[in-house]
Amino acid sequence: MKFFKKHKGVLMWILFGGTMVIVFLLGLLAASINERRAEIATLFANKRVEIKGIESRSEIWGENYPREYETWRETADTNFASKHLGNKFQDVLEERPEMVILWAGYAFSQDYSAPRGHAYAIEDIRNTLRTGAPMTDDDGPQPATCWTCKSPDVPRVMAETGIAQFYSKKWAALGHEIVNPIGCADCHNPENMNLTITRPALAEAFTREGKSIEKSTIQEMRSLACAQCHVEYYFKGDGKYLTFPWDKGTTAEAIEEYYDEEGFTDWTHKLSRAPMLKAQHPDFELFKLGPHAQRGLSCADCHMPYKSEGAIKYSDHHLVSPLLNIDRTCQTCHRDSKENLIKYVYEYQDKVLEIRDRVEKELAKAHIGAKDAWEKGASEKQMEPVLKLLRAAQWRWDFAVASHGASFHAPVETQRILAHSLDKSYQAQLEIQKILTSLGVNANYPMPDISTKERAQAYIGLEMKELNAKKEIFKSEIVPQWIAKAKENKRLL
Ligand code: HEC
Ligand code: HEC
Ligand code: HEC
Ligand code: HEC
Repeated sequence: MKFFKKHKGVLMWILFGGTMVIVFLLGLLAASINERRAEIATLFANKRVEIKGIESRSEIWGENYPREYETWRETADTNFASKHLGNKFQDVLEERPEMVILWAGYAFSQDYSAPRGHAYAIEDIRNTLRTGAPMTDDDGPQPATCWTCKSPDVPRVMAETGIAQFYSKKWAALGHEIVNPIGCADCHNPENMNLTITRPALAEAFTREGKSIEKSTIQEMRSLACAQCHVEYYFKGDGKYLTFPWDKGTTAEAIEEYYDEEGFTDWTHKLSRAPMLKAQHPDFELFKLGPHAQRGLSCADCHMPYKSEGAIKYSDHHLVSPLLNIDRTCQTCHRDSKENLIKYVYEYQDKVLEIRDRVEKELAKAHIGAKDAWEKGASEKQMEPVLKLLRAAQWRWDFAVASHGASFHAPVETQRILAHSLDKSYQAQLEIQKILTSLGVNANYPMPDISTKERAQAYIGLEMKELNAKKEIFKSEIVPQWIAKAKENKRLL
C-alpha cells in the first residue's frame, strides 16, 4: 500500500497508457477485420447471379463483381505508351525489318505486331495474317491449338469435347465457338473465386515433374494464373497437343536441349535451310530468374496492384504496364521518386535493346550468307555446323526478345542469352566465310536492300498483295458469320 501511495501518479499513468495501447490495438484489429469483411463482402454479398460451370461471358460475372469487371474492361484502352512498350498497336516488322529475314519461310515473316490488352486477344488473332484466310472449317494453316491462350471459351469447349479433340481440330473449325476475349473464367473458380488453373498444359508440366499444381500457395498462384499463357510452349506431334517443354528445366539452354532431343523443329529456314525453333513468350520462365521473383514477388504484385474504393480494397484487373500506375505498383515497396523508378526500367531496357539490335543485324547477315554459300555449291556436310549455329543463335535471340517484359524482369539473364546469340551469329558468319573461301569465291557476300518491311518481304519472295487481299475477304465474309452464329447460340452477348 505504501508503495502504491508513493507511486500513485506514475502507476495511474502506466494504467492509462496501457489502456490506450489496448484501445489502439483493438481499433487496429477492428479496422483490419472491417477491411477483410469488406473484401469478403465484395466477394459474396453482391452475388446477384449464380454462376455454374465454365461461364465464358465475363459480362455475367460482372453482375457480381462490378469493380473487377470495370477494371478488366479497361484492358481495351490503347492510350498508354512507355518508351519501348505499351498497349498501342505497333507493327514490329515495319520497325525492325531484319525480323522478316530471321523468320523467312515462317508465317511470322508476314505479320507481327506488339501485344495489346487482353480485350483484343480474339480480334488480333482473327486479324493476323498468320492465321491465314480460311474459307471453310477445315481450311487454313493453323490448328485449333492456336486459340488456347485467347479465351475462356477454350476451357469450356475442352470440357465439352475433350482436350486432345480440341487440339486436333483446325483453327477455323472453332471460329464460331471461341469468341470471348481472355476473361474471368480463365483464372477463377466461380464458386469461391479462388484462382484456378484452366489450361491443362501447365498442370501436365507440373505432373511430369512430380509436382502437384493444387499444392501451390496463393502467392504462387498469383504468377501461375499468368503462366498458363505467358510461357514457352510447342505443339507436340500430329495431334498438335499443346505442351510446355520444361522437363529438363526452364532456362533457354534446358528447353533447347529438350527440343534437340525430341528432334523438334518449327520450320526450315527459307534462306539458310537451318532447322529452326520459334520461341513463344517465356515471360514466366525469365521472370523467375530476376531479382523480384527471387524476393518472392508475383506477376500480380506489379500488374494487378490494389485499388481502393472507400473501405474496399480490390485487385486492379486492368492488366497493363506497371509504369501506368507507379504510385500503386513500384512505390508500394520502393521509397523512390516516380522519375527514378521509370529511369531504372528504361536503363535496363535500353542496355538490353542495344545488344538486341546488333544481334538482329548480324543474325540476318548470317542467314543471307548461308544462302549465298548454298548457291555457290557448299555441301550439306560443310553447312552442317553453320545450320546448328544459326538454330542456336536464333533460339537465344527469340527467347530473350519474345518475352516482352524480360529486359526489366530479368535484365542480367536476358543480356547473358543475347550475348551468346551474338557470339553464335558471328561464329556462323566465320564458318560461312571459310566455306566460301574453300569454294574459291569472294567471301564478302553481297547484302540485299532490306531497309523496309516491304523490301525484306519482297526479298524472301512473299506475295503480300495476294495474302492481304485474301485476308480482307476472310474478315468481311467469314468473321461476321462466326459472330452471328455465336450470338445465335448465346456464346456471345
Ligand atoms: C488473368 C487472370 C485473371 C482474370 C482474367 C481475372 N482475374 Fe480476378 N483475380 C486475379 C488475381 C491474380 C487476383 C488476386 C487473387 C489473390 O490475391 O488472391 C484476382 C482477384 C479477384 C477477386 C478477389 C477480390 C480482389 O479484387 O482481389 C475477384 C472478386 C475477381 N478477381 C473477379 C474477377 C472478375 C469478375 C473477372 C472477369 C471480369 C476476373 N476476376 C478476371 C486474376 C484474374
Ligand atoms: C488465357 C491466356 C492468358 C492469361 C491467363 C494471361 N494472359 Fe496476358 N496476354 C495474353 C495474350 C494472348 C496477350 C496479347 C493480346 C493481344 O495482343 O491481342 C496478353 C497480353 C498481356 C499484356 C500486354 C498488355 C498491353 O497493354 O500491352 C500484359 C501486361 C499481360 N498480358 C499480363 C498478364 C498477367 C500479369 C497475367 C496474369 C495475372 C496474364 N497476362 C494472364 C494471354 C494471357
Ligand atoms: C516488379 C514488378 C513486375 C513484376 C513482378 C512483373 N512485371 Fe511484367 N513488367 C514490369 C515492367 C516494369 C514492365 C515494362 C513495362 C514498360 O516498359 O512499359 C513489364 C512488362 C511486362 C510485359 C510486356 C507488356 C507490354 O506492354 O508489352 C508483360 C507481358 C509482362 N510484364 C508480364 C509479366 C508476367 C507474366 C509476370 C509474372 C511472371 C510479370 N510480368 C511480373 C514489371 C513487373
Ligand atoms: C512488392 C514489393 C515490390 C514492388 C511492387 C516492386 N519492387 Fe522492386 N524490389 C523489391 C525488392 C524486395 C527488391 C530487392 C531489394 C534488395 O535486395 O535490396 C527490389 C529490387 C529492385 C531493383 C534492384 C534490382 C536488382 O538488380 O537488384 C530495382 C531497380 C527495382 N526493384 C525497381 C522496381 C520497379 C521499377 C518497380 C515497379 C515496376 C518495382 N521495383 C516494384 C520489391 C518490390
